[in-house]
Amino acid sequence: MEFQEVVRRRRMARNFAPRPLPAEAVERILANARRGPSAGFTQGIDLLVLEGEDQTAQFWAAVSPDRGFSSAGWPGVHSAPLIIVPFAHKQAYLDRYAEPDKGWTDRDETRWPIPYWYVDAAYASLLALLTAVDTGLGALFFGVRDHGALRRAFGVPDALDPIGAIAVGYPATDRPSRSLQRGRRPSETVIHRGSW
Ligand SMILES: Cc1cc2nc3c(=O)[nH]c(=O)nc-3n(C[C@H](O)[C@H](O)[C@H](O)COP(=O)(O)O)c2cc1C
Repeated sequence: MEFQEVVRRRRMARNFAPRPLPAEAVERILANARRGPSAGFTQGIDLLVLEGEDQTAQFWAAVSPDRGFSSAGWPGVHSAPLIIVPFAHKQAYLDRYAEPDKGWTDRDETRWPIPYWYVDAAYASLLALLTAVDTGLGALFFGVRDHGALRRAFGVPDALDPIGAIAVGYPATDRPSRSLQRGRRPSETVIHRGSW
């Protein structure tokens, strides 16, 4: 698919066919997620990959025991055969920037203009979303509130922060999110050429 077409077609899917994915598609999504940029090439992201009904059911039981997507009118989110959880690893960045070429040996977090560990995990997530579309699949990035439950369920080290989760699958017809009624902001309110 043309790159422009991938970008144009990317939208959050909230209903999935309960159909397993080809292994090549899963591997391509994971490989591309690892191709994103990272500050100082720290590569401080980890991906928890949950495939098939047993693993995805364990995920939903841990992070959404009240099945919030079902009560919001999107039960088909739970049918996604693949869930990827991208994690940011702050300490990896503090350690990387304490190396001689960076020199922040005090590992002081206030040196950071913004937390690049989250930025890099978001880049990886977008690559996963775009690759899903390019592979003929759909995907949803969504928030995960109970980090403790997720860590306990899958043995994730405390140092890693899940920035959300990505459900991937064959998209089925869904109800658009109410948020979309806001419409896309006009470009002249977003893009400030030359000055604000
Ligand atoms: C950081 C982030 C968190 C989001 N969390 C949720 C979520 O918890 N549930 C959900 O249904 N959509 C979630 N979304 C999807 C947004 O609602 C969606 O991207 C937005 O409405 C624009 O729609 P589109 O991505 O289909 O173009 C999230 C998106 C981002 C970037």
